[in-house]
Amino acid sequence: MNQVFDIEPYRVTQQPFYLPQGNEIELYEAAYAARLPVMLKGPTGCGKSRFVEYMAWKLGRPLITVACNEDMTASDLVGRYLLDANGTRWLDGPLTQAARHGAICYLDEIVEARQDTTVVIHPLTDHRRTLPLDKKGELVSAHPDFQLVISYNPGYQSLLKDLKQSTKQRFTAFDFDYPTSDLETKILAEETGLDAELAGKLVKIGVAARNLKGHGLDEGISTRLLVYAATLIKGGIAARDACRMALVRPITDDADIRATLDHAIDATLG
Ligand SMILES: Nc1ncnc2c1ncn2[C@@H]1O[C@H](COP(=O)(O)OP(=O)(O)OP(=O)(O)O)[C@@H](O)[C@H]1O
Ligand SMILES: [Mg+2]
Repeated sequence: MNQVFDIEPYRVTQQPFYLPQGNEIELYEAAYAARLPVMLKGPTGCGKSRFVEYMAWKLGRPLITVACNEDMTASDLVGRYLLDANGTRWLDGPLTQAARHGAICYLDEIVEARQDTTVVIHPLTDHRRTLPLDKKGELVSAHPDFQLVISYNPGYQSLLKDLKQSTKQRFTAFDFDYPTSDLETKILAEETGLDAELAGKLVKIGVAARNLKGHGLDEGISTRLLVYAATLIKGGIAARDACRMALVRPITDDADIRATLDHAIDATLG
């Protein structure tokens, strides 16, 4: 017996706030029209998940998101038999649910999953568009509206954790990066209501920190953290404190780098 699955909670009913960085909306629409799988690459907090939410809303498709991790097994994606009072019962995993119901399935941080887990997406992401449920003895044909989207942060993963070429070459791909300063200022202002002048200063601090990447910082300050700082300031926290708390403390424990960033904050805020 299959469980009854309700897709309604997965509908994106409110328009997510998303400012495009280029022609990614058009390109994504073309990929979706052809039902091609999509891979989003880019550093943490630069807008990948927000973009997928926006596209799911725009295309009117439900969105099922799975955060991948190294303990995840193929069954976590595909489904498993459960034992209950009435005997065994099959429970579809999120990938199977998305394939059956025509949702967009978003596998976040796909490289974290083990390769034996990753290969379950192969038949779904080529001309077959099928998902074999080996344990159940069923071959699910994907709903015509189903699409698979994966994301990952290239760079700070070890080479060992990279995706196999046979996985990569099933996807179209988008390179994401932090928005340009003007755009990022607008994002901060519109997302949090902070005035544009102060938003611009936060962005300047972000840019300064991004230049330290590879010189003591593994990763620059993300748009997400800038949004945090802006939110704290809007909530009444002094800009200096908000910046230290949201922009500096999370990203480094190195005393020298902290001092450099704190100095940049003081200099920029004036
Ligand atoms: N283009 C954009 N339009 C609107 N908001 C944006 C945009 N880019 C980034 N943001 C803001 O940045 C935040 C972080 O973005 P998001 O969660 O999409 O990052 P991500 O790339 O998925 O990061 P991770 O790889 O860590 O999951 C969003 O919550 C949003 O506030
Ligand atoms: Mg994300």
